[in-house]
Amino acid sequence: MDFELNELQIAIRDAARKYAQDKLAPGARERDREERFPKAEVAEMASLGLMGVNIPEAYGGAEAGTVAYSLAMTEIAAGDASAAVTMAVTNMCGELIVRAGNEDQRQRYVTRLTSGEYTAGAFALSEPQAGSDPGAMATFAEKKGDRWVLNGAKQWITSGAYAGVMVVWARTAKAPGAKGISCFLVEGGTKGLLVGKAEDKMGLRASNTVPLTFEDCEIPEENLLGVEGDGFKWAMVALDGGRIGIASQAIGIGRAAMDASIRYAHEREAFGKPIADFQAIRFKLSDMATELDAARLLALRAAWLKENGRPFTREASMAKLYASEAANRAVAEAVQIHGGYGYVDEFPVERHLRDARVTTIYEGTSEIQRVVIARELLRG
Ligand code: CAA
Ligand code: FAD
Repeated sequence: MDFELNELQIAIRDAARKYAQDKLAPGARERDREERFPKAEVAEMASLGLMGVNIPEAYGGAEAGTVAYSLAMTEIAAGDASAAVTMAVTNMCGELIVRAGNEDQRQRYVTRLTSGEYTAGAFALSEPQAGSDPGAMATFAEKKGDRWVLNGAKQWITSGAYAGVMVVWARTAKAPGAKGISCFLVEGGTKGLLVGKAEDKMGLRASNTVPLTFEDCEIPEENLLGVEGDGFKWAMVALDGGRIGIASQAIGIGRAAMDASIRYAHEREAFGKPIADFQAIRFKLSDMATELDAARLLALRAAWLKENGRPFTREASMAKLYASEAANRAVAEAVQIHGGYGYVDEFPVERHLRDARVTTIYEGTSEIQRVVIARELLRG
């Protein structure tokens, strides 16, 4: 076993940490209050290689691997969880296009995602009636001559109003469930792609989450990603990797809340001494640190497996399940440690609590992670 990071992993982690602490964290509270998308910040993140951490250099990526991606994601999330989810989805789209796309699609789209020419990528799988069960999607794509024509509605699409390119899933055959679903690349601003009003969210308020409507939205036939009918599989493959990213994001949010709690426990006095002297506070900090470290090890194991071409579906779901729930426990205790000050936005922990909440919901709820883990276990 080797717990040492290599030079590239350390360099990416440290660059992400520096950017997150110097540039993202100071403005995170204001962007959250104003629901202001971190457009300039994500462009700077692209210039640091953070929009394609695990993408080959040939397509403008940092080619640093999934472990480096996990480390960087945690650092960015500790600074601003909204910027982190924007980064997560853009990396997931870029990686999917590298994996499932042809050379023309990679050159055309991935390079623009990694360079920051496109502000973000978007991953349009969920629909109003089909979230946990994307096989129930209704969006339909019909081939007309050399064009595909998309009709339907997508829901909860991260960065949907800012994406230069979206990966969009639609039915191309009247088959049940996961069968007959294909995957398409739709450029932002395409005629017939209507971007709805941004959701007014509990947390991640500086990220952009919108419904999308496709009304006779025509795209060229070459924008089919992968083979017709294979789309569901590509969604699952992308989500396996994406879940490592969300686990890492959750760890970053939890760590930020823990660090704020340690600072506060030293500063705040009650009964004539710092609250850090009370065993009840110490035990909370111990549990937070232990659970976040366990989450980190799960995430890094899944990242290592992916990086080394080994199966990692079960491990990614375990990491996402455990990290998101551990982060939610950590942020709740962080608010408790801050007492009344934890309940107002003078301190960051109330934002961390709101930001952490969605990590047990998106990229597959905790219940769905358990479905995946059990399915893999029972398969034997
Ligand atoms: N890798 C490759 N292929 C896979 C796979 C995987 N991990 N998992 C399933 N497949 C394949 C299966 O082999 C099967 O293929 P065949 O028909 O050829 O055998 C096909 O996909 C269908 O598989 P299932 O029958 O298992 O599919 P299901 O309908 O029962 O669904 C599920 C399984 C795990 C519940 C899946 O629907 C799921 O992951 N749901 C959650 C959806 C989700 O996570 N959405 C997130 C949206 S993106 C997002 O949220 C972004 C963000 O917030 C920032
Ligand atoms: P439902 O599927 O309706 O689930 C409701 C409840 O039932 C949940 O508790 C669920 O766990 C439970 N449940 C459902 N099925 C089962 C089962 N088989 N066993 C046990 N329990 C079950 N989607 C995208 O495609 N792209 C994005 O970029 C994206 N970004 C998002 C950003 C935000 C801020 C949010 C909130 C969501 C985003 N999503 C995105 C959608 C997200 O992936 C879904 O919300 C999620 O998958 C759950 O789907 P649902 O909301 O329809 O809940």
